[in-house]
Amino acid sequence: MRIIALFNQKGGVGKTTTAVNLGAGMAAVGKTVMLLDMDPQGNLSFHLGIEPDKVNHSIYDVLVNRCTLTDATYRVHDKLSVIPSTADLAGAEVELVNEPERELRLRNAVLAAKPQADFLIIDCPPSLGLLTLNSLCLAKEVIIPMQAHFLALQGMARLLDTCSLVQEQLNPDLRISGILFCQYEQAPRLTSEVTGEVDQFLNNSRGTGKPWSEAQVFRTQIRRNIRLAEAPSFNQSIFDYAPNSAGAADYGVLVQDILEMHAAT
Ligand SMILES: Nc1ncnc2c1ncn2[C@@H]1O[C@H](COP(=O)(O)OP(=O)(O)O)[C@@H](O)[C@H]1O
Ligand SMILES: [Mg+2]
Repeated sequence: MRIIALFNQKGGVGKTTTAVNLGAGMAAVGKTVMLLDMDPQGNLSFHLGIEPDKVNHSIYDVLVNRCTLTDATYRVHDKLSVIPSTADLAGAEVELVNEPERELRLRNAVLAAKPQADFLIIDCPPSLGLLTLNSLCLAKEVIIPMQAHFLALQGMARLLDTCSLVQEQLNPDLRISGILFCQYEQAPRLTSEVTGEVDQFLNNSRGTGKPWSEAQVFRTQIRRNIRLAEAPSFNQSIFDYAPNSAGAADYGVLVQDILEMHAAT
């Protein structure tokens, strides 16, 4: 099973949009996919039409050992399931603070449940707290969605440091597989300056053994496309909501990119 985390402590960069559409796209080509909502805001759960008041067991209950991962798994369709979050997930950060192995709760729950899926895709919250730490302790591949504007690189150092620390101390398997530019605007010079800077940074890291030393900038860039912003209100992925849109085309190519990438099984 490939375990991919969408991680960036900034909000609004495209984590949730990418988690949903990457998951739906993988399912559409026949892969079995589990989506895991680790954000207390529950945007991913909402996008997939899971209403908080109809959720009996959420990822919060899993983390506090009130149920198994299987109990909290909801089937969207044959190939796609979701482990939703609800607002009480925000409390887990505090509730678990004195618990042993608190950063390994999620990993232990997944190891115990042994889900049968080709992909487990984790939508991280926009923070560097315990929920993110649990996500990074479980993930093998990290994809960093990013917006190509001049503040994009702000916060990169902390984000990379976090991955480095987790890799050294908790999860030696952790690798950053790529940077994904989302809400991409064609043409402006600034955009190519930012992507160029990231490219250069990654090229300078080759062979360093850092978790990003083999990372790439995805050749697919997700263009800004209003259909992607509309789809959540209809509880549909971009492939169902607007199959002929630029958004569907871009996420379709990303699915292929990721399938071709060496699987860090
Ligand atoms: N490529 C895109 N084009 C247009 N709107 C987008 C695109 N990607 C994301 N959005 C919208 O931008 C907002 C933030 O995206 P989201 O995926 O929720 O970010 P995050 O999960 O990182 O906070 C959402 O309203 C989403 O619908
Ligand atoms: Mg989000």
